[in-house]
Amino acid sequence: MFYQTKDHHGLPHDPFKSCLVPRPIGWISTLNRDGVVNLAPYSFFNGVSTNPQMVMFSSGGPRTANPKDTITNCEETGEFVVNLATWELREQMNRTSATLPPGADEMALAGLEAEPSVLVKPPRVKASPIHLECLYHQTVDLPTPDPERRNGVVIGRVIGIHISDDVLTDGMVDLTKFKPIARLGYMDYTRVDLVFTIARPD
Ligand SMILES: Cc1cc2nc3c(=O)[nH]c(=O)nc-3n(C[C@H](O)[C@H](O)[C@H](O)COP(=O)(O)O)c2cc1C
Repeated sequence: MFYQTKDHHGLPHDPFKSCLVPRPIGWISTLNRDGVVNLAPYSFFNGVSTNPQMVMFSSGGPRTANPKDTITNCEETGEFVVNLATWELREQMNRTSATLPPGADEMALAGLEAEPSVLVKPPRVKASPIHLECLYHQTVDLPTPDPERRNGVVIGRVIGIHISDDVLTDGMVDLTKFKPIARLGYMDYTRVDLVFTIARPD
């Protein structure tokens, strides 16, 4: 099949996200201006460069009335933490995607213990084995067909990385221990623990 994206795809569900898989889940903790913790998952998330190490996530949602807290907090406070979501944490991760009032501490509501970060103020999800402490760099506002909604790509610089010894084997991150989950299309996820290696040609 082929369809132009300006037209309807003709399928029961939009296949776009199913073509871009698996997407790592940035489970992002921030603080609002009053210091209240916010935690939410973002699967339009990835690394964008290694030198310096930068990450991005993309945030939809209303522009003015009740915008998403994560992008607001990043822009207002300049800091965020990416907690990597794992198989063991899948239910809690999902719970933190609920739309709650700006003052709600989603980490506490999901029964997750917070752990202080080293270089930034937002806390980490203690049970997550990998955390990236980030400084907000900029938001790229992408076009949106609805001027009332935002389509903001938030870019941050990673300034500190925590890796639990529990997910290391011989000094390397061991996917069979880490067991990150990743987003597929529809309501589907995958667990990343099948690894194969291919050497690059010289
Ligand atoms: C696995 C998963 C991935 C998500 N990815 C995104 C995303 O990439 N962009 C987005 O705007 N919302 C995404 N959402 C929805 C947000 O998590 C949800 O709107 C949440 O309430 C936002 O919280 P906040 O207002 O505290 O930032 C995702 C939800 C789930 C469960």
